[in-house]
Amino acid sequence: MWNIDMTYREEFQEVFDRLYEKKQLLQSSRPLPTMALNKIRESLSIEWTYNSNSIEGNTLSLRETQMVLQEGITVKGKSLREHFETHNHDKAIDYLFSILNDNYILRSIDILSLHGLVLRSIEDEFAGRLRNGGVRITGANFVPPNANKVSDLVDELIQFINTNPLQLNDIELATVFHHKLVWIHPFFDGNGRTVRLSMNLLLMRCGFPPAIILKNDRKKYYEALNQANNGNYQKMILLMCQALERTLNIYLNAMPDNDNDYQKISDIVSEPDALYGQEYISLLARTGKIDAYKEGRNWYTSKLAIENYMANRKRKR
Ligand SMILES: Nc1ncnc2c1ncn2[C@@H]1O[C@H](COP(=O)(O)OP(=O)(O)OP(=O)(O)O)[C@@H](O)[C@H]1O
Ligand SMILES: [Mg+2]
Repeated sequence: MWNIDMTYREEFQEVFDRLYEKKQLLQSSRPLPTMALNKIRESLSIEWTYNSNSIEGNTLSLRETQMVLQEGITVKGKSLREHFETHNHDKAIDYLFSILNDNYILRSIDILSLHGLVLRSIEDEFAGRLRNGGVRITGANFVPPNANKVSDLVDELIQFINTNPLQLNDIELATVFHHKLVWIHPFFDGNGRTVRLSMNLLLMRCGFPPAIILKNDRKKYYEALNQANNGNYQKMILLMCQALERTLNIYLNAMPDNDNDYQKISDIVSEPDALYGQEYISLLARTGKIDAYKEGRNWYTSKLAIENYMANRKRKR
């Protein structure tokens, strides 16, 4: 029924292991001071709103998003709609936290509620309602299913997620849910924003921080979705893992006893005793082979991450 090519699995096992280890580390170590936790959560929420709305076409910058949310101001030259989108997404995140718990089980009513909040006061006639007509996605390699199938397909997807017949891990589940829901495209508008919220229920219920798809990755994101439309989840999994690792690192770096020593790859490889070149290490970073993350235009990793990867590879050979 759900076309999922799982050949990506072998290649990603190490990445999955690394992400679970990081989650474990977060959960097992001394809890961060409440103050620090609140700060991170607040700044992540703002980033989440900024990036998700920006992918959708909202033109507020990160800074403007922050000012609108924290200071309640309006930004000159930006439409009322864009301000609503900002506040709505922020309220939807609050709602998401309010329904979340360790035993959370995905329900269609929650997806509808999140959608309702996303489109509130903007497209009230569609907010929280499944579409009753056809839609097209610009640039997509397929046409979403007929409106009369939508309700059953959503139920089937939720059933698939909750029964997990393929024994997918939490990251795979969130990825498949993300893609399948936008493939069904249950709403006239707001599908992307709603799924970028609701997929995080699946990650956060088991202790992961939210995965935030970055505006800068928009092109990659659409390519990954097109690939997934053909059953190939390679790119989509990579994108989700990178998004998740970024937020995991934000929490880990805030821990008082963290010994992460991330540096720009260009700095690491230009040290006199460097064993590997820029191109090789960058490739490992981009493909998720080593523990690395991108900040702005630069990739960061640590010498330890490179050593670990090389040691692992030797063992395998
Ligand atoms: N090629 C594709 N295949 C499947 N889904 C796609 C494809 N291209 C885009 N999408 C999904 O459709 C969403 C756009 O749908 P829609 O306009 O209803 O959502 P939105 O929240 O208003 O906007 P956006 O997601 O752009 O934020 C994208 O975010 C993406 O998740
Ligand atoms: Mg839209």
